[in-house]
Amino acid sequence: MTPAMELRGVSVNFGSVKALQDIDIKVYPGEVHCLLGDNGAGKSTLIKVLSGVHAPSKGEILVNGKAVRFRSPRDAQDLGVATVFQDLGMISLMSITRNFFLGREPTRSRWPLSRIDKEKANAVAKQAMADIGIDVRDPTQAVGTLSGGERQSVAIARAVHFGARVLILDEPTSALGVHQAAMVLKFIIEARMRGLAVIFISHNIHHAYPVGDTFTLLNRGRNRGTYAKSEISRDEVISIMSGGEDLKAVEAEIQGLLAQIAARQSGVARQ
Ligand SMILES: Nc1ncnc2c1ncn2[C@@H]1O[C@H](COP(=O)(O)OP(=O)(O)OP(=O)(O)O)[C@@H](O)[C@H]1O
Ligand SMILES: [Mg+2]
Repeated sequence: MTPAMELRGVSVNFGSVKALQDIDIKVYPGEVHCLLGDNGAGKSTLIKVLSGVHAPSKGEILVNGKAVRFRSPRDAQDLGVATVFQDLGMISLMSITRNFFLGREPTRSRWPLSRIDKEKANAVAKQAMADIGIDVRDPTQAVGTLSGGERQSVAIARAVHFGARVLILDEPTSALGVHQAAMVLKFIIEARMRGLAVIFISHNIHHAYPVGDTFTLLNRGRNRGTYAKSEISRDEVISIMSGGEDLKAVEAEIQGLLAQIAARQSGVARQ
């Protein structure tokens, strides 16, 4: 199967900071690919490359097997790459419908005027959300009155409706309680079932593991491995996510210090 999106040998430098080094990654249609890694590992930088915000300093981006160059996020969007950033880019005071379309509203034209067909826009937005299981009572309701989970859901429904093939989600559940997070995870699965390739960034193993098919571990700008779920257990993911190796090193260091202190104290006691 051709990956929906692929990076080959991608590096990103910010001055002397090597944010990403020689990254290879493939995401397939109908898969949820979780991107894991500590703070500063390069997760946000990676999705900014995928979504056309940053151009790689080196390496190639492929969409459906074809090499592409994104000059702007618009180029990525036009090729079906939809990104839901943490701040969502929604306008609180505007209605769900306006946020859903953001300038792509259906129009009704009676020459020489064309104007937004509000009724149709409301109906389409309501239906698109119903399609993935979100019941919106009133699409003219301001987005600011929705819960965090509902807002994420609107963003996901929008991406699905406008034909995204790759859906990138940066920490969509991090600010949410259990119930709201479960709702968003459900829509992630809906998007996958429609054949989208989903890239899901999360710090929360309880969110990532149940919905993930594939896990890529980033560490200091490098890809430390990509694993199918069958190849990696929840505990191994936890250990890597929490920096298990680093923690062991810190623990050994602390043990060494304690031993030194104990030796010094027993020396003092003997004098
Ligand atoms: N615009 C920039 N200019 C300079 N350095 C940057 C820039 N963006 C990111 N970096 C650096 O690149 C590295 C990776 O940052 P990035 O934001 O991708 O990490 P992250 O994995 O998303 O972390 P977090 O979990 O904290 O969001 C960090 O060292 C960061 O300081
Ligand atoms: Mg980040």
